[in-house]
Amino acid sequence: HHLFSPLPDAEPAARTSRHIKITVVGCGNVGMAIAQTILTQDIADEIALVDAVPNKLRGEMLDLQHAAAFLPRVKIASSTDYEITAGSDLAIITAGARQNPGETRLDLLQRNLAIFKKIVPPLAQYSPDCILLVVSNPVDVLTYITWKLSGFPPNRVIGSGTNLDSSRFRFLLADHLNVNAQDVQAYMVGEHGDSSVALWSSISVGGVPVISSLEKNDINLSPEMLEATRKAVIDSAYEVISLKGYTSWAIGYSVASLAFSLLRHQRRIHPVSLLAKGFYGIPEDREVFLSLPAQIGRGGILGVVNIHLTEEEAKRLRRSAETLWECQTQLGV
Ligand code: NAD
Ligand code: LAC
Repeated sequence: HHLFSPLPDAEPAARTSRHIKITVVGCGNVGMAIAQTILTQDIADEIALVDAVPNKLRGEMLDLQHAAAFLPRVKIASSTDYEITAGSDLAIITAGARQNPGETRLDLLQRNLAIFKKIVPPLAQYSPDCILLVVSNPVDVLTYITWKLSGFPPNRVIGSGTNLDSSRFRFLLADHLNVNAQDVQAYMVGEHGDSSVALWSSISVGGVPVISSLEKNDINLSPEMLEATRKAVIDSAYEVISLKGYTSWAIGYSVASLAFSLLRHQRRIHPVSLLAKGFYGIPEDREVFLSLPAQIGRGGILGVVNIHLTEEEAKRLRRSAETLWECQTQLGV
C-alpha cells in the first residue's frame, strides 16, 4: 500500500542539484540564531547540530524541526557525536565561552582554545573537504588555531570577522544619512574587536564617495561624526551584552549571508577573517588571521580585494595585526 503510484515505465527520480550539508557546532544563542536564519534562506538540504549538552541540543533540534510546515524541506539532525557531521560542505563553529559584561573578546582565549582542541580535529576528519567558518571569540585568533588544528589550506578556513562590524558601521551611517544600509559601501577591517579599523577613504553611498563630498561640505557628515561612528561600532557589542547578556540576531544574519555567498558561489565581497600575512604591508612572518574584504564562493576565499588605503589606515591595520600576533605569541601557539 503506497502513498503514491508511479507512472508506467517511469525512470528513477534524478537528483537535479547537489545535496548541501551545513554543520553548526555550539547550539547556544549564536549557533541557534545562525541555524534559524540559514533555514529561512533556503541554503541547505541538511543541517547537523552538535553541542556538548545533550538535552539542550535535542530540545533545540526538535524546536526547529517543528517549523517544518513553514519552511523549505531541510533534514535537521543532532548529536554530541561528530559522526553526524560527516560530509558537510560547511562547518560553522560557535561553541564556547562568551564575554561577561566588561570582558574583552581576547579575554576568552584560554577557555575557548581548550574547547577548539576537542572540536576541530573530529570536524576536519569527518568532512575533509569542507569550509570551516569560525564564529566563537576571539574569532581571529581562533580562526588561526582552527587553521593549524585542521591542516586545511587557508582558503577553506575563514572567520566571520568584521562582516558583522561592517554591518553595524553601515547601519549607523545609513541611519545618520537617512538612506538604505544596502546602499552604503563601508568596511571595518582588522581585528573583530577593539583594534578594528574603519576605512573612511573608501566609504561611498550610492556610488558617491563620502570623503570627497566631505571636503566640498555637501554631505551631512563631519570628521567628528565619522570618528564617533567608529567608536560606536566598537562599543556596539559591549552595549548589547550589558543590556541583554549576549548578541545573537545580527551575527545570525551575518553568518547566514556568508553561508549563502560561499555555498551558492556568489563571488560576493565580504570583510572576513583570513590569513593576512603579506597583504597591505603586514609582514610575511606575521601568521595572523584578520579581516580584509575578500571575494568568497564555493572554494572559500577566492581573492583579497586590493582597495586603496591611506597611510594612516594601513598603519592602523598593521597595528591590529600586531595586537593579534602578540596575543598568539603569549599563548605559545
Ligand atoms: P552560549 O553560552 O549561549 O553558547 C555556547 C554553546 O557552546 C553552549 O550551548 C555550550 O554547551 C556549547 N559548548 C561548550 N563547549 C562545547 C564543546 N566542547 N563542544 C560543543 N559545544 C560546546 O554562547 P553564545 O552567546 O552562543 O556565544 C558563543 C560564542 O560566539 C562566544 O565565544 C561569543 O563570544 C561568540 N560570538 C561571536 C560573534 C562574532 O561576531 N564573531 C558574535 C557573537 C558571539
Ligand atoms: C559581537 C560579538 C560579541 O556581537 O563578538 O560583536
